[in-house]
Amino acid sequence: MSSRFDPGAKASNRGVAPVIYGTGERPPRGDYASAREDFTCEQHWERYTAQEHTLYRRLCERQTAQLAGLACGEFIEAVGQLGDPRQIPRFDDLSDTLRRATGWQIVAVPGLIPEEAFFALLAKRRFPVTSWLRNPDEFDYVVEPDVFHDLFGHVPLLFDPMFADYMQAYGEGGLKARDLQACEYLARLYWYTVEFGLIDTPAGLRAYGAGILSSAGELRYSVMSPVPQRLGFDLTRIMRTSYKIDSYQASYFVIDSFAQLIAATAPDFAPIYERLARAPGLAADERLATDRVF
Ligand code: PHE
Ligand code: CO
Repeated sequence: MSSRFDPGAKASNRGVAPVIYGTGERPPRGDYASAREDFTCEQHWERYTAQEHTLYRRLCERQTAQLAGLACGEFIEAVGQLGDPRQIPRFDDLSDTLRRATGWQIVAVPGLIPEEAFFALLAKRRFPVTSWLRNPDEFDYVVEPDVFHDLFGHVPLLFDPMFADYMQAYGEGGLKARDLQACEYLARLYWYTVEFGLIDTPAGLRAYGAGILSSAGELRYSVMSPVPQRLGFDLTRIMRTSYKIDSYQASYFVIDSFAQLIAATAPDFAPIYERLARAPGLAADERLATDRVF
């Protein structure tokens, strides 16, 4: 992956599906030895350096400046709730604010965690946030999710009651998918919604996916570029579609509303998984006659 490193062409701090833990080429970056059994750990806020707070501020500034016209309204409304953008938030303080809004909390983790632990936390409305911040030379691109991606990208929408419910349902669905050996399908749903989802609004297409919203380049690319295809949300179609982990996405899927997302994912997935096991997979850039093209 690093041999093809090209910051100009890549998504900055794009999302990484939780399923790849332990399978990467590099050793994990965080301190897993100090983590608890559920993979949560102490944030150790006092250990952040002044340089790290400054880097976090610069990341926030760059990203906040381009939200208008590209990020969905729910995200823009909530991003201020992250607190003082000049320093890395204290997770405990942010959790108090978030708990009052939607019952969610954030918990520190050393980095990517095994899918089972990830699903279990989400099912309990606890969102795992990586405690470490990228290095200055990773300003434009970081391979794994860091505290900036996890906080800035994911936490604002946890303030939205509907999206908050979707994330918990996803966690519960993950525990079930694991028993059905269907995590790969569910990971694709996560990827194309939570990380790279677009939403159709009266004002035009907007991003709600955290991988896009925390990316310096992909936010504008995903909404505006003529290169990628933007297709209407289709649950089983998404679950068949592979995705790019080392470049901008070839396809983005567009929901009409969070209500649509919740309604489409409410049915029992067990029979869907069974059918998918017999359906051919789709390449990330494939186009079907049945696709609704934006
Ligand atoms: N309805 C899904 C199931 O039965 C659970 C789920 C909900 C999964 C929302 C993802 C998102 O497995
Ligand atoms: Co993410």
